[in-house]
Amino acid sequence: MSSQLEKVQELIDLRAEARLGGGEKAIEKQHERGKYTARERIAQLLDEGSFEELDMFMRHRCHNFGQEKKSYLGDGVVTGYGTIEGRLVYVFAQDFTVFGGSLSETMAQKICKVMDMAMKMGAPVIGLNDSGGARIQEGINALAGYAEIFQRNIMASGVIPQISAILGPCAGGAVYSPALTDFTIMAKGISYMFLTGPKVVKTVTGEDVSQEDLGGADVHSKKSGVCHFAAEDGEDAIRIVRKLFSYIPQNNLEEAPLVECNDPIDRLEDSLNEIIPDSPNKPYDMYEVIGAVVDNGEFLEVQADYAKNLIVGFARFNGQSVGIVANQPKYLAGVLDSNASRKGARFVRFCDAFNIPLVTLVDVPGFLPGTGQEYNGVILHGAKLLYAYGEATVPKVTVTLRKSYGGSHIVMSCKQLRGDMNYAWPTAEIAVMGGAGAVEVLYAKEAKASDNPAKVLADREAEYNKLFCNPYNAARYGYIDDVIEPRNTRFRIIRALQQLATKKVVNPAKKHGNIPL
Ligand code: HXC
Repeated sequence: MSSQLEKVQELIDLRAEARLGGGEKAIEKQHERGKYTARERIAQLLDEGSFEELDMFMRHRCHNFGQEKKSYLGDGVVTGYGTIEGRLVYVFAQDFTVFGGSLSETMAQKICKVMDMAMKMGAPVIGLNDSGGARIQEGINALAGYAEIFQRNIMASGVIPQISAILGPCAGGAVYSPALTDFTIMAKGISYMFLTGPKVVKTVTGEDVSQEDLGGADVHSKKSGVCHFAAEDGEDAIRIVRKLFSYIPQNNLEEAPLVECNDPIDRLEDSLNEIIPDSPNKPYDMYEVIGAVVDNGEFLEVQADYAKNLIVGFARFNGQSVGIVANQPKYLAGVLDSNASRKGARFVRFCDAFNIPLVTLVDVPGFLPGTGQEYNGVILHGAKLLYAYGEATVPKVTVTLRKSYGGSHIVMSCKQLRGDMNYAWPTAEIAVMGGAGAVEVLYAKEAKASDNPAKVLADREAEYNKLFCNPYNAARYGYIDDVIEPRNTRFRIIRALQQLATKKVVNPAKKHGNIPL
């Protein structure tokens, strides 16, 4: 064999060694845990044959605890770039078969390199996390590595989309990188996120809790709101990343990809003319409305199991990606509370940062009253949603279906928060508050002094409802641009979005606002 061929063979052998990560046994163990390897995950994520790996030959430089005798090519993370449906993305996938995917100085350098390239090229970064946290043997250098990543997450925020899939452990300060990214997807049964593990919890608070109950996908998708999508397993998590990616642009200067639309734009949906129940206290399912108006009924819901009183997610109108925000009358009567406000605000800000128009479907009786909410800071949380809508400069189309009362009316993308097109169904009730509450405040004394208090209140309520609980009072002042036939909602939204395609609004120059965090 010529010396050149020998060198080529050496390269081939080294590549094969790198591809084995921590070795065949460790790979077997990874599979036994119900997990895929980093490379298998990347293959599932990217278009076939599109992956270009970087830094395969990097190794750690640690000499503590005999680490110099134990090193692996690539040092526990696979990084590089490739395409999803032909669009460029940068990827890193932690390799649990190498030191439990723990983060070393070298690993951080590799991750930072792809993040820097993604920023330069204006392409998203997708992180596949599966790691035991900071590489303990490296001490402060591992911590410094995390901080380097966090700093980049922060600088990239609002410039390129950042998506985190959690496919194994993600503990300690390591959780802050996913938290700084735009979306976190967790795979049920194999992933968990917490600041301190069960053992530390037990020592500090005496609480006995399993990893799953402390920070599993269920906890973070239902209780904490940390997780945006709870996937059935690792493969499903990656499917969700690909789907999510289809709705979002490459960066903050581009638009989301336009998809061919076979669903007629003027499709009339007769069922919507009869969907609102006669009794204002009876719910209906907002998912039915969303399904009826968007292209092909397709809706990718974000945080589906958290604060279910507010629905947020992505859909398309005539092939154009939009963010949908909708009250859900079927859950807590669609009331706004602290969690729903935070959920909505974050979603609205993501859409605004990445040029995705907002379509808001309103049926909201108000903010949830009580000490539970007030002690929890509902004033600040509600203000977040208000701020997010008021700050947003993307096209904003609002349709009020039924209730729109008081502060919640203002918050839900009203005209004065720079709503571009504000429509209402004939069933809309746009007022300061509901009739029953209003007459209690205004006429309680009069009712008490009369022979028949119930009749006085009922009469006054009927009078109030006639005057205020309709869309025409708001339309009279131009706060509602048009009252539309429900079955024609799809067409009217599409028309509005087409009209708004060239919208240009620039907020005053500033370092940054002070959103009530
Ligand atoms: C070095 C680590 C490691 C780590 C795991 N390994 N975590 N090596 N640093 N942080 C190694 C193990 O020694 C083992 O090596 C291999 O990875 C697989 O780990 P196992 O324990 O055998 O796997 P499993 O039973 O599945 O348990 C996984 C685990 C556990 C739950 C993640 O390994 C664990 O508790 N690790 C420590 C978690 C932790 O406390 N991390 C530090 C957090 S502090 P061998 O050679 O035996 O195969 C932190 C600060 C970050 O992260 C701050 C950022 C700001």
